[in-house]
Amino acid sequence: MTEETRCLPDDIADIWDTDIVKVRHRFAESPLFSDAALAELVAQNPDAVREIAKMDPDREDAREWRDSGLSASDPKALFDAVEGGALWVNIGHVGARDARYQALLDDLMDSVEAAVPGFSCFNRQLGILISSPNARVYYHADVPGQGLLHIRGQKRIWLYPGSEPFLKPEELERIITTAAGEEIAYDPAFDKAATVIDLTPGDGLFWPLNWPHRVVNGNSLNVSATIEYHTRTSRRHFAVNYANGLMRQVFGMTPRSRAIDGPAFWSKAAIAYACRKSGLGDRLIRASDAK
Ligand SMILES: [Fe+2]
Repeated sequence: MTEETRCLPDDIADIWDTDIVKVRHRFAESPLFSDAALAELVAQNPDAVREIAKMDPDREDAREWRDSGLSASDPKALFDAVEGGALWVNIGHVGARDARYQALLDDLMDSVEAAVPGFSCFNRQLGILISSPNARVYYHADVPGQGLLHIRGQKRIWLYPGSEPFLKPEELERIITTAAGEEIAYDPAFDKAATVIDLTPGDGLFWPLNWPHRVVNGNSLNVSATIEYHTRTSRRHFAVNYANGLMRQVFGMTPRSRAIDGPAFWSKAAIAYACRKSGLGDRLIRASDAK
């Protein structure tokens, strides 16, 4: 991708990490996202399809999010089902399967790094979402840094501040300690504080770490690319939330600090590292959940 194929806002250095960043991209024009290319990608890498979920498109209720039971073994049949159903297909980390996708992502993220002094990201992963007309993704928060590049169809996204009441510390800790389910408690009253953005092909967004969001598709088949990345700062937030989660969930303590520097942070970082690496943390969480 060349300079004229993307567009970052002039104030990106001022708002990165603190506000929503709208970008323009030309992934939509890449042949890598044609029906044929996506079918080929899935045919060659059926195990890259991490999730084929179904949901009730008429209700914002995370309990309606379920495994569809469908298989990726026949991409054409799967895509036909998406066209006519209420389905959400997540093809994960496609850059590890085909270097051309990684090159597109790296070019975009390199340009962001060049435009934002001090910003440096790693573990960059591009995912592809293919979802049905009117499908929705329920209110949730993600652990890594996030971006969304819209490629086909229309969708509306609601983005909420990453603070209480929209995201409670204990909810974020649980997402991090259990590495399971990213759904968090949703209240329609939150929508008063949401930033609502309609996405058409060529639109892209980045938002600050862990900001909750939910998505509703227009009456059109949707193809989007998701971006995940980590930074040294996001790793620190992860460590402190993991350690705080252990304190709260296993030992019944209320963590007093979420600081990502200072002596308390480094103690928590050491605990988080040791507990994750040894597997002790997982065992403690499972044991406390079983009580
Ligand atoms: Fe998300």
